Amino acid sequence: MTQSATDKESISEQERFEELKRKVREQLVATHGPIAQALRGVKYRVAIFSGKGGVGKTVSTINLGSALRQMGYRVGIFDADIHGPAVPKSLGVLGRMETVSEHVGHHDLRFDPVLSRYGLKVVSVASIWPGEEVPIMWKGAHKMRSIRYFLSAVNWGVLDFLLVDLPPGTGDEVQTVMSSIPNLGGMIVITTPQGISAMVCSKAISAARELNAPVLGLIENMSVLVCPCCGTRIQLFGQSRGEQLARMMEVPFWGNIPLATEMGECVDEGVPVVVKYPDAPVSQAFRQMAAKLLDSLRVERPMSDAEAEMLAHRPRDHHEHEHHHF
Ligand SMILES: Nc1ncnc2c1ncn2[C@@H]1O[C@H](COP(=O)(O)OP(=O)(O)OP(=O)(O)O)[C@@H](O)[C@H]1O
Ligand SMILES: [Mg+2]
Repeated sequence: MTQSATDKESISEQERFEELKRKVREQLVATHGPIAQALRGVKYRVAIFSGKGGVGKTVSTINLGSALRQMGYRVGIFDADIHGPAVPKSLGVLGRMETVSEHVGHHDLRFDPVLSRYGLKVVSVASIWPGEEVPIMWKGAHKMRSIRYFLSAVNWGVLDFLLVDLPPGTGDEVQTVMSSIPNLGGMIVITTPQGISAMVCSKAISAARELNAPVLGLIENMSVLVCPCCGTRIQLFGQSRGEQLARMMEVPFWGNIPLATEMGECVDEGVPVVVKYPDAPVSQAFRQMAAKLLDSLRVERPMSDAEAEMLAHRPRDHHEHEHHHF
């Protein structure tokens, strides 16, 4: 085959790919319009991600959110873990989301987030579900549609940050949520010193890249346990390897969060550790991570009341430039 024939072929391949991308983007804009509308008062949207379950995504989300709140930011949390929603309980949110529908009919149902005692707006399917013992049986395409509908049906109001607590893994739900949020500012990836976590985590980082979501930083949780009696540093899950992993995957390393004996009690009581034990090393670490988040998005201060007022009254049909990830 001649050189020009190869070029021609690769150009048409490229064109086909661009055409496909354009079509997908058009579809996304069409179906995601209501989500973009619902999120129009939210400045920064950040998802908390990991490959493996149980590494501390939820704990990190609520504590980063609370640390930002303590600095004066307006923060909302979307609990995207449909099958294991843990955010409301961890924040002591027992109430249900108010339905503020004025019309009767499925598509006119709207919800107000629940405001936690510590000033975070919380949205979770757990807050509309009949009871803890009732399993959520949404699946397949219906589940994906439900997640999207849910995102669009919330009155998010004005927020500096919306933190999205993702379910574990890189499966359908994670991809749906990530590709459904227009202008996603980026992802925070959580790992632990365990080899398996590091391995799965590099897969998660690659998945984030695939979805065009910038990885803002990597956090290693459960890095070390400092004995409360003698101060001995115990590496319960092995040698810390977050920094090395970050270097390998070429993402910024934000640092380590220690294992904290205070954590179990705080989660059970529904109080963020940064609120209950602000001086504990784990709380200092979460505040440092919050500062890294602000740095990475170049945020200098919470939005002013005037700016909030302006965003709140943004017309409904305002067309902002939307950037979708897929
Ligand atoms: N730094 C820490 N110190 C002590 N306990 C911790 C720490 N981080 C997380 N935990 C505990 O580990 C458990 C898992 O944490 P968490 O629920 O936040 O993980 P997750 O990644 O959200 O899990 P899932 O994938 O199931 O959603 C919880 O019981 C939590 O209290
Ligand atoms: Mg979780």
